[in-house]
Amino acid sequence: MRFVFYSQQKRSICKLLLVFYLQKLNTFYQTNLELMNPDTNFSIRSFLGGYDKNFTYLIRCSHKGTNILIDAACPITQILPFISTPPIAVFITHTHSDHISYLDEYSTIFPNMIIFGYPDSTSISKIKNFRSIKHKENIKLDNLLFTAFHTPGHYFDSICYLLKPALFTGDTLFVGRTGRVKDKKSNIKDLYNSIYNKLLVLSNDLRIYPGHDYGKQPNIKIKNNIAISPLLRARNLQEFIDIMEEYELNRILNNQ
Ligand SMILES: [Fe+2]
Repeated sequence: MRFVFYSQQKRSICKLLLVFYLQKLNTFYQTNLELMNPDTNFSIRSFLGGYDKNFTYLIRCSHKGTNILIDAACPITQILPFISTPPIAVFITHTHSDHISYLDEYSTIFPNMIIFGYPDSTSISKIKNFRSIKHKENIKLDNLLFTAFHTPGHYFDSICYLLKPALFTGDTLFVGRTGRVKDKKSNIKDLYNSIYNKLLVLSNDLRIYPGHDYGKQPNIKIKNNIAISPLLRARNLQEFIDIMEEYELNRILNNQ
């Protein structure tokens, strides 16, 4: 009897220490909660960290408390203090390694979590619970309706996820500029087409949530992003290519 009591006590102490440790970790890492306007039925919490000012987003359905993640770029220890039920899904914006760094960790801790991504993303398509999604496919998870937009250019398997009025843009679109085209599997014509014919034709009132914190603010409405981004004001493909070349040249000149 005494043994049972002590082992229960030990477990409680361990739990308390774990919570304390996670809270300490959380004060080290940055996180930010955005409550959406009253018309929406979800909140977004952003976690900043990972390889290079990466974001992982936690979406929480206000009705059922369902948790959904965008990208696996930050350690699970950052996220655990903010969830009481396992996330039911993670949407992968593309498979550059910094966006899937912790996917194995997430899958191990949440074995039933569905992983959504592009069909030809071989680095994740073999993982148990992987589910491929097509361009313009709708996915309803509890009360939340996501629409996927295949937006190649920065990388061949880039997908943006629309959850009105939020648009999760990965490395296709940042605050202040588009993604870059430095990878062997990048293509500037595809990027132009993705940006101008798939994203900028959506409502300008959508707010983008990018894959990295590269701008002057973490997220922005599309109309305000156009106002501050020359790359979003090109009149045609050639002008877009010219502005991108100028941007890359300035990076070299500024040692970025
Ligand atoms: Fe990337």
